[in-house]
Amino acid sequence: MKEIKSIGVLTSGGDAPGMNAAIRAVTRSAIFQGWRVFGIYRGWEGLINGDIKEFTSSSVSNTIQRGGTILKTARSDEFRTPEGRKKAYDNMIKFGIDALVVIGGNGSLAGAQALAREYDVPVIGLPGTIDNDLYGTDSTIGYDTALNTIVECVDRIRDTATSHDRIFFVEVMGRDAGFLAQNSAIASGAEAAIIPEEQTNIDQLAQFIGRGFRKSKNSSIVIVSESKKDGGAMHYAERVRNEYPQYDVRVTILGHLQRGGTPTAYDRILASRLGVAAIEALNEGQRNVMIGVKNDQIVYVPISKAIKLDKPVDKELIDCLAILSI
Ligand code: F6P
Repeated sequence: MKEIKSIGVLTSGGDAPGMNAAIRAVTRSAIFQGWRVFGIYRGWEGLINGDIKEFTSSSVSNTIQRGGTILKTARSDEFRTPEGRKKAYDNMIKFGIDALVVIGGNGSLAGAQALAREYDVPVIGLPGTIDNDLYGTDSTIGYDTALNTIVECVDRIRDTATSHDRIFFVEVMGRDAGFLAQNSAIASGAEAAIIPEEQTNIDQLAQFIGRGFRKSKNSSIVIVSESKKDGGAMHYAERVRNEYPQYDVRVTILGHLQRGGTPTAYDRILASRLGVAAIEALNEGQRNVMIGVKNDQIVYVPISKAIKLDKPVDKELIDCLAILSI
């Protein structure tokens, strides 16, 4: 196995608060190890185009508290092609980059896996996404911050919902995963959550209404996971307007404000731990693993598993919300 003397670090896919803390931790622990560090800009696009700069310890000063990613990010179509990956590999050789640390979600780690398979490049993945949808880790970098942002927003919506006796459908992100919706519903005291994991089983709106949701309440908040399939919060609001015209219904789509903002202490610490562990893993000879955290312990998860296996929303959380929203 070739000795590692220099690494590249990149962020790819949707940005997530805490990515800067991860870049900082990867950079500083690699330098601590005596390795060179190259910051690769705009995700895989930067590796393809040679948008790469050598980092020193001060390149990451004053960044731990900042949202977004100082390396910028992109979703690269070119990297999905063998020709794109060949260009990326050629730049690794040109810059003398021996291994990569890739911070991102499902698609970004799938890209890392493809490159590792084709060119035998050591890659380590760090789970960076607000969606929390990667198998093998209890939490992903950015999830806690996004969750807190949603809860703060719903608290505000609650004030006006109560004042006007209205039903609000609040749409949150998560792509195909309902973690943000389910847990923000519990934390904000919402009356229900509509999540993709349950979509094929039952009509969640009918179930919610069937429970007599306005028996003792004048206002209600329903958190809805975004969904390409059924149209998300707008769709449910429309249904209630048609089926129950007596109710005053409003929709709030939180959108990209969920992705920005200063990372919580939890995300900063998680990102710092995972970043340090990434360099330790490379040093130990680990290859093609994602670093995760399970029961507060650092774990190595094969990237193939992290991106393929389903991470279910705990049934206990679904029951918890149902009980507490009576
Ligand atoms: O994966 C993170 C995420 O914010 C998802 O929750 C959302 O579906 C998607 O990215 C939005 O992507 P974009 O910023 O490209 O519109």
